Amino acid sequence: METDGENTTIRSPESRRRIVLFPLPFQGHINPMFQLANILHTRGFQITIIHCQYNSPNHSSYPHFSFRSINDHFSKVVHMLPTNRDISFYLKYLNRSCADPFRDCLTELLDEEPVSCLIVDSTFYFTQAVADDLKLPRMVLRTTSLGCTIAFSVLPFLSKEGCFNLTKQDQDCEALVPEYPLMKVKDVLKIAINPQGYGDYISNMLKQMTISCGLIWNTFKELEEPELETINKGFPVPSFTLGPFYKYFPASSSSLIKQDRTVLSWLDKQPPKSMIYVCFGSVARIKDFEFQEVAYGLENTSSPFLWVVRPGTVLGLEWIESLPEKFIERVGDKGLVVKWCPQPEVLAHPATGCFWTHSGWNSTLESICEGVPMICSPCFTDQPIIARYVSDIWKIGIFLEDGFERVRIEMAIKKIIIGKEGEEMRERISSLKEKLNVSLDEGGSSNKSLKNLVDYISSL
Ligand code: UDX
Repeated sequence: METDGENTTIRSPESRRRIVLFPLPFQGHINPMFQLANILHTRGFQITIIHCQYNSPNHSSYPHFSFRSINDHFSKVVHMLPTNRDISFYLKYLNRSCADPFRDCLTELLDEEPVSCLIVDSTFYFTQAVADDLKLPRMVLRTTSLGCTIAFSVLPFLSKEGCFNLTKQDQDCEALVPEYPLMKVKDVLKIAINPQGYGDYISNMLKQMTISCGLIWNTFKELEEPELETINKGFPVPSFTLGPFYKYFPASSSSLIKQDRTVLSWLDKQPPKSMIYVCFGSVARIKDFEFQEVAYGLENTSSPFLWVVRPGTVLGLEWIESLPEKFIERVGDKGLVVKWCPQPEVLAHPATGCFWTHSGWNSTLESICEGVPMICSPCFTDQPIIARYVSDIWKIGIFLEDGFERVRIEMAIKKIIIGKEGEEMRERISSLKEKLNVSLDEGGSSNKSLKNLVDYISSL
């Protein structure tokens, strides 16, 4: 990068091609950032990833990228994860602890070679000040939905009004939230256990998104058209909706946990569209009694199931030691319990008939891409909002709104696998799948948005 006498940044043409990306070190954020990096690499950009030491990506899976690692000091707090479930605490901590190492790393990098733009996870709001100081354009990747971002933009307001401060007993949990009537009060209560802390984090993030050079979204216009209009009105910077990234590159190579591929041969033995795939993502945790209800719910259906129980999913336990006695023997070949699997391949498998998910955004998009209807059991943050969209707006899934109860679980599975409701959901999700395929075709909305993004970055 060069600077003229009046501090105006001038870049030579060859300096336009390197992009530096900075993912948040969690699976649901690493996957879309690496997918985006791959997309931009295929469009002629050179890629440098600055990443945290915590959950460090496997460099050998990406020989075409260069990497810089920074000391995030996350090891000082990571041991608290099983007990302290206040997500905002960790996100704020990372914003503080990464600030100096990130600035040093980026400064060093800029001394060595020109960079045309920085793309950061929206959670890293501290990076705007660094980018401003170093006169580097900063774009933001938002890894969740447009709808969720809009809902979040009213949260600090809700928090001020005190909605968050009420306990479940104090209020009508079934009531709709006036500022965002898609949601019920009980959904909002789920979002954060420290609403004030979470609200502060969200305000910081939104503020720094507003003054960035542009926003990149892992979604497609046809899925969230009214939401895109609202976002375009609310953020005075260009938005690029070029998703789903999964359709360009499935996320398997950025998996932080070894995927158990033996599930695929088991899947081959199951009848078409009969199998329930159960997975609650990479961070959600459930209580022991909820885990037991999931187990009984699955056992009581006649459908085969593949259940991913990530180690540490059940609060206070290592893995599946509290499964009901003789559960594995009783379910026999009907069920498989594993620690982690190649989710994209499982969802794409003809045997998969339903995805019981925590409604993380990547999982939801992957399910739409593969045309698999969902059962939603959201845990926190964006998940309750996504679950509402899945059940009430797109009508491609069932929301288990009242938690884990074996009888309701059994009913939901039956509805999706053999009921008329499930058939209708399957039709709707197939039609969404077609729309998304069209959006990625030459001239489609995501395809155009990607071209616009490439032109935009080249012009920065
Ligand atoms: C987190 C939040 O929970 C989510 O709400 C937010 O939108 C993103 O960050 P996470 O819990 O990791 O995400 O869920 P999700 O967004 O669904 O991402 C999980 C990823 O892990 C998916 O890409 C999925 O394919 C992958 N995965 C999951 C596997 O590869 N194997 C598995 O066994 C399970």
